[in-house]
Amino acid sequence: MNAIADMPSSASTAAFDTPPGAPLIEVRDLKKRFGEVEVLRGVDLEIARSEVVCIIGPSGSGKSTLLRCLAALETYDQGDVRIEGELLGYSERNGKRVRAAQGEINRVRRNVGMVFQQFNLWPHMTALGNVMEALLRVRHLSRDEARRRANAMLETVGLAHKGDAYPSKLSGGQQQRVAIARALAMEPHIMLFDEPTSALDPELVGEVLQVMKQLARDGMTMAVVTHEMGFAARVADKVMFIDQGRIAVQGKPREVFHDAGQPRLRQFLQNYFDRNAFWARGPDDVEQR
Ligand SMILES: Nc1ncnc2c1ncn2[C@@H]1O[C@H](COP(=O)(O)OP(=O)(O)O)[C@@H](O)[C@H]1O
Ligand SMILES: [Mg+2]
Repeated sequence: MNAIADMPSSASTAAFDTPPGAPLIEVRDLKKRFGEVEVLRGVDLEIARSEVVCIIGPSGSGKSTLLRCLAALETYDQGDVRIEGELLGYSERNGKRVRAAQGEINRVRRNVGMVFQQFNLWPHMTALGNVMEALLRVRHLSRDEARRRANAMLETVGLAHKGDAYPSKLSGGQQQRVAIARALAMEPHIMLFDEPTSALDPELVGEVLQVMKQLARDGMTMAVVTHEMGFAARVADKVMFIDQGRIAVQGKPREVFHDAGQPRLRQFLQNYFDRNAFWARGPDDVEQR
């Protein structure tokens, strides 16, 4: 379960162009509106190499939009998104900003991998086929090379034995692990996860979090939007609480979860704990309801 360590550009520093210590992703005053609604209202953040950042916050606060801007799946209106030092989505000519050509955008974002809540696997392709697809079409690897790398990635997520299975024969947890393998196969320098376990039955959440934990241990840089507070508390280097399009609080998990002084954050966490803490109050308490 450790092909990540052998990947040429995930955890090894030699493959990076940016100097050590420079942020892999740097966001300054990011603003994004959909029509009348300003969804991101000035986001600043940095993600360093090998850092794991968990992003929490209420529904509609702009978490998905933020990740989508980092992956160039969404344009942004103002501010900077820099991936390994390079401005994403725009180029600057004579002090003026113009929208970059698609080829240029693809080049800057090629080291950003993304995993979604819905796994988005091709139903007519096997697990192996799904992982190979972009290697063939985007990276133009030979079939042999693509198959070799895809098999290694399936092994990384513990699914070496499921290469021939179609998505309909896989559990949700297995499908999401295939989706993670598919993203890893592109040798990203950073992985973005948007609520990767929210569509799963509760008993399947653990196997996906386990894979993500292993990735973090192997040095992958990660930004994870999640409601799994236990995961955030144990795995994140930094937790960011987004509220109404701004990062309202950020810090080490201990600071964010234990010293939550900010009223909106305290309310958000309280709701979460109320929903999840029935056992901690004791079974008697539950039976009385
Ligand atoms: N493509 C879109 N067009 C219009 N409004 C959108 C679009 N995507 C998101 N929004 C709106 O932006 C706000 C933030 O959405 P989102 O980033 O998905 O929040 P979160 O992921 O935190 O739940 C919501 O009010 C949502 O309705
Ligand atoms: Mg979302």
